[in-house]
Amino acid sequence: ARITLRQLLDHAAENGYGVPAFNINNMEQGIAIMEAAQAVDAPVIMQASRGARSYAGDIMLSRMIDALVEMYPSIPICMHQDHGNNEATCLSAIQHGFTSVMMDGSLKEDAKTPADYDYNVAITRRVVDAAHWVGASVEGELGVLGSLEHGAGEQEDGHGAEGALSHDQLLTDPDQAVDFVARTKVDALAIAMGTSHGAYKFSRKPDGDILAMNVIEEIHRRLPSVHLVMHGSSSVPQALQDLFNASGGEMPQTWGVPVEEIVRGIRHGVRKVNIDTDCRLAMTAQFRKVAQASKSEFDPRKFLKPAMDAMRDLCRERFEQFGTAGNA
Ligand code: G3H
Ligand code: 13P
Ligand code: NA
Ligand code: ZN
Repeated sequence: ARITLRQLLDHAAENGYGVPAFNINNMEQGIAIMEAAQAVDAPVIMQASRGARSYAGDIMLSRMIDALVEMYPSIPICMHQDHGNNEATCLSAIQHGFTSVMMDGSLKEDAKTPADYDYNVAITRRVVDAAHWVGASVEGELGVLGSLEHGAGEQEDGHGAEGALSHDQLLTDPDQAVDFVARTKVDALAIAMGTSHGAYKFSRKPDGDILAMNVIEEIHRRLPSVHLVMHGSSSVPQALQDLFNASGGEMPQTWGVPVEEIVRGIRHGVRKVNIDTDCRLAMTAQFRKVAQASKSEFDPRKFLKPAMDAMRDLCRERFEQFGTAGNA
């Protein structure tokens, strides 16, 4: 059945677990997530970016969610808009059956330029009012995502904000978080604590200097009932990098967010954990493996099935690590 983000994260908070939010663009990713959830009895957050919506099309995406809800009747599913850039994106998602939206007012509508605080408060509050009228939940974001190592704007995947930002701008200010939640009434708050989107987060295993876990702990201390969201939470597992590169790939060595750091966040109020890169890598490493091992293969299912299975195994592992398993 469909569930809102608020319903799901309230249950997660009461029971002390976190929920991975996996990005989807197609049927294979949707089935991979649901097979994993079914296997371990976990509730699901699936999220679509603006790019996913234009790739699959809103009608295809919304009918796919209908199908997954019908195919897995015992699993609660929250369908969430990832990084909504304005009111139109968020409200049209709700029209297409999404039960939750992220209004990312930390950036301007171009999704590149850092926005000022008053802009963020005003646009987020407008989306919260409209979404709550029709029973949908809203995630807001305070602070600009980007690793403390590279700074925003230097991400190799082009997701970073433009221009060099200071250390302070890259971390959410706890005082501002208290004010932001009171003024916007968001259901969940994404915070910046040193992670960035994509595969190239860190050039060494991150420690306390480049991952500001103390920011999470302080915000949770000040706002104990607010559900926190960690973006850029792929771990970029070494085994997946190795398989990718052993199969003809050329991916420079990189480090993601260690799972044990995410688990520490979950002990301090993190309830939604965004993961896209790990799923992409799990799938495309299999594409490469099949392409290299079977050079005459041209049935797409021979590529897609192992890719789907690899993503399913990754999702299942995260459900187990975050304590989501057993909570459907
Ligand atoms: O926030 C970024 C997510 O990984 C989605 O990426 O915009 O390429 O679909 P995308
Ligand atoms: P990753 O690139 O670390 O998977 O982060 C995804 C994300 O934050 C989507 O909003
Ligand atoms: Na999101
Ligand atoms: Zn994100």
